[in-house]
Parts: sequence; C-alpha cells; structure tokens
Amino acid sequence: MAAMSNLMLKTVLIVVTSLLPQSSCRYNGKYRVLGSSPIEYITTANFSLANLPNDPHLEFRRCHFTSFGPDMFEALKPSTRRVTFRKGTVREVLIGPTTRLERIQVIDTGLIALEAASDEPNYQLKQLTVRSRKFSEWSPSLASLWMLEEIDVAYCNLSYLNVQWLERYNHLKMLDVSKNRLMVFDIGMSSVPTLERLHLWGNHLKELQRFPEAFPKLKKVTLAQNRWLCRWVANIRGAILSQDVELMDMDGVCRAGWQINGGLCCRSGEDRKAATSQRKTNEKSSIHGGHDFIGMNGSVFGMK
Ligand SMILES: *[C@@H]1O[C@H](CO)[C@@H](O)[C@H](O)[C@H]1NC(C)=O
Ligand SMILES: *[C@@H]1O[C@H](CO)[C@@H](O)[C@H](O)[C@H]1NC(C)=O
Ligand SMILES: *[C@@H]1O[C@H](CO)[C@@H](O)[C@H](O)[C@H]1NC(C)=O
Repeated sequence: MAAMSNLMLKTVLIVVTSLLPQSSCRYNGKYRVLGSSPIEYITTANFSLANLPNDPHLEFRRCHFTSFGPDMFEALKPSTRRVTFRKGTVREVLIGPTTRLERIQVIDTGLIALEAASDEPNYQLKQLTVRSRKFSEWSPSLASLWMLEEIDVAYCNLSYLNVQWLERYNHLKMLDVSKNRLMVFDIGMSSVPTLERLHLWGNHLKELQRFPEAFPKLKKVTLAQNRWLCRWVANIRGAILSQDVELMDMDGVCRAGWQINGGLCCRSGEDRKAATSQRKTNEKSSIHGGHDFIGMNGSVFGMK
C-alpha cells in the first residue's frame, strides 16, 4: 500500500512538473531548426539536376521520391550531416553502409518502408525520426545501423515490435513508439542495456515481460493510454520503484469497465474468457492471433 501511494505521488509530481508525453507530436517546433536549407519540389526525375547546397542540415520539402536510396544519399554534399524529408512523397528510404548522415527525419511523406540496404554496418547514423501512419513494420535489416542513439517512430502504425531487433544497438538511449498500434512489445529474453528513455503511451499493450529489468539503465518511461492487465500493473509496481524508473505519465479517467491502479487504467482478468474465445477465432486470420483487441467497455471487438 505504501509503495502504491508512493508511486502515485511520484507520478503526480512528475506529471505536474514536467512535460507531458503529448509534446512529442509537436515535431514541427521540436525539430525545425533555424539554418536548415529547404529544397522544394524535386522529384526522382530531376534530383540529379538539383543544385544541392553545402549545408549541414538539408530539408527536402514537398519533394517526390518513390524511393530514396544509397546512391541519392551519396550525391549529397560531404558537409551535410542531417536530412529531413517533409511533406510531399517519400515512400521508401534505404540507408546504405556508406550513408554518412548522423540524422534522418522522414515526416509526413507517407513513408511505408525504411530499410538498410545491406548487412554491412553503418557507423554514422545516430538519430532516426519517422512520422507516417503508413509505416507499419520495423525492418530487422535496420539492425545494421550500429550507432543509433535515438529512434523516434511515434505516431506511426507499428503493431508489433521485437526487442531482439534492437539488441545490436550498443548506444541506444531513447526509443519512442508512442501513439502506434502496438499490441505486443516483445521483450522475450532480449535486453537493451543502454536504454534510458522508453515511450510506450497510446498503444494497445496488455503486459510486458521482464520489465523493467530488460532495460537496466532505464530512467524514464511512459505507459498511459494502453490496455494493461491489473495484475501486470500490480506486479511491476515494485520493480519500477526499486529500479528507480520514473513513470512520466498517468491516465486520468478510465473508460467504463476499467479501473485505475497506481495511475494506470487497467482491467482485471475477468475478460479472459471472452479473450480466449476471440483468440480461437483469430488464430487463423491474424498474424498476431492471441493478442486480442479490447473495445471501449472492456469487451472484445467483434464479439456480440
Ligand atoms: C523538378 O521537377 C518538378 C516537377 O516536374 C518541377 O516542379 C521542379 O521545378 C523541377 N525542379 C528542378 C530543379 O528542375
Ligand atoms: C496499419 O497497419 C495495419 C496492419 O497492422 C494495416 O492493416 C493498415 O492498413 C495499416 N494502415 C495504413 C494507413 O497503412
Ligand atoms: C459501452 O457502453 C455504453 C453504455 O454503457 C454504450 O452506450 C456503448 O455503446 C458501449 N460501447 C461499446 C463499444 O460497446
């Protein structure tokens, strides 16, 4: 009981005194840097004719590239360290081992695929940002981006993420997957020893295994607006406190049928019978069969 009110108090203080996780959607202000050079209305057809400036930060605005690959990155001036694609169309980005950039941002371009072009490691890229409701799959090929420190894929469409895909990142400090459609954040036996900040708010998660011990350096986490099971919330509370992880957010009012537990809305295991029969119907039709979708009132979608 004491542990619970402790966590509540800590959570309230943190929420009141620090920025809310919602601020991650204000990427326009957050990432737009004075001094970036916008290049506008270039297409795949006339990219080679474009007069690319020698600037450290290049912004392609309202450009149209079906695919932006290693050869095109190669064509950038050597002093360019950072590239932003904003608006327009960039459906696919392929990062090669010799791509020299430190930071790539792909914002509102309808990005579908982001991949590494080769298994050979890239030793340059440190930060990756994607904003696209069509970005639905994290490619395991990205494991070759060895130097990644920050991955920000908030407001995308990921429903599954396997921590095993992140294990090769020996410098990864920040992972933001908030406001996706994650049903499973699969930790398994993997761990990310360097991770300090993890943003998971606004997903469809029910529980996490080996949390937070799979992230021994974790300092800050967001967990609100998910579909937690109360027994999971109760189980991790002690571990979060003893590992000294700050829970940065909390739920306000819970939907009917859900209860508040240590600042997080959760449901008790009562829906498991419904969940189990839904699982049976889902098994053949869904890739993630067994991870049911819980509706507004704690009932399972698709069930009468
Ligand atoms: C590239 O092509 C687009 C579309 O045809 C055109 O609007 C733009 O002005 C061209 N840019 C250059 C630098 O040629
Ligand atoms: C989001 O992902 C789901 C699969 O998880 C897919 O069915 C849906 O079409 C995707 N949405 C968009 C806008 O691509
Ligand atoms: C949830 O319950 C309310 C009333 O209790 C009802 O009006 C609403 O339609 C229900 N929503 C769903 C998705 O079942």
